[in-house]
Amino acid sequence: MTFTFKNLSADRDDLRVDVLTGLAASPKSIPPKYFYDEAGCRLFEAICAQPEYVLCRTEQALMRSRLPDIAAAIGAVDCIVEPGAGDCVKVRRLLDALHPGQLVVMDIAGAPLAAAAEPLSRDYPDLAVTALGMDFLHDLEAAAPHLPAGRRLIYYPGSSIGNFPPDAATALLARFRRLAGADGQLLIGFDLKKDPQRLHAAYNDAAGVTAAFNLNLLVRLNRELGADFDPARFSHYAFYNPVAGRIEMHLVSLAEQDVSVAGERFHFALGETLHTEHSYKFRCDEFSTMARNAGWQWSAEWTQDGFAVQLYR
Ligand code: AVJ
Repeated sequence: MTFTFKNLSADRDDLRVDVLTGLAASPKSIPPKYFYDEAGCRLFEAICAQPEYVLCRTEQALMRSRLPDIAAAIGAVDCIVEPGAGDCVKVRRLLDALHPGQLVVMDIAGAPLAAAAEPLSRDYPDLAVTALGMDFLHDLEAAAPHLPAGRRLIYYPGSSIGNFPPDAATALLARFRRLAGADGQLLIGFDLKKDPQRLHAAYNDAAGVTAAFNLNLLVRLNRELGADFDPARFSHYAFYNPVAGRIEMHLVSLAEQDVSVAGERFHFALGETLHTEHSYKFRCDEFSTMARNAGWQWSAEWTQDGFAVQLYR
């Protein structure tokens, strides 16, 4: 039916400020949301096709096999809201099952989002699609005026929530709670704690795609911030930390070197790490405690091969 695109991203220079702040800190770090430039989005899709990285395929299989149950548990909804919708593929299954009148998708990459969301309005003739180009971590509240009244379902699949340490994850879930409104629900997918060897392999695929994804961040900074990183002088290093319950991804400097970024110089000692991602893994009960602390009430859950989908109201 109708398609609307709005670019809500204020022209704040977030990438530059966040990167300069992260490189000045000790240990050095850069937020994982900056992986997803065009090449990064393609590399992430390639990761999902690696034999070791079963997360995406397992979630899709779960959503396929349990869809009737999931749809019945959700009941009637007027609007599906997906923060970080990317290629807008996953939500199709829910549209098929729930037939909402409205879909609101958000993503930090506005142009690719618009390109992915527009066809939905053709494929679903009774659906009004709104695509919001925005960094919802900054601006989630700015989306509120674009949401229609009625029963809202927030959909946050793919274990994206795993990128946030528990405090930040709880805070984000609380913001989802406020956005969802009184009859709101949340359908969220996350990766479960499991055999560390399997987790390790998933972030160290034999084809080196995850390494390329990690190193692409440096290529992006070279292009967009006029940096002079030599990706050959950094090593992809990812491991599971079972105490913290997370994969940690790093770029470790293979030499003592200076790098210039947006006109500032940064020193890397040999072996110094630039931390690029946390990917938390949960138990179902750990997750529901976190969601309860964010104001959500557990309503149902489905698990399959080390992945979980939970429903909250
Ligand atoms: C998109 C955040 C769920 O943490 O597994 C994949 C990103 N990083 N391989 C994840 C990712 C390295 C992914 N998430």
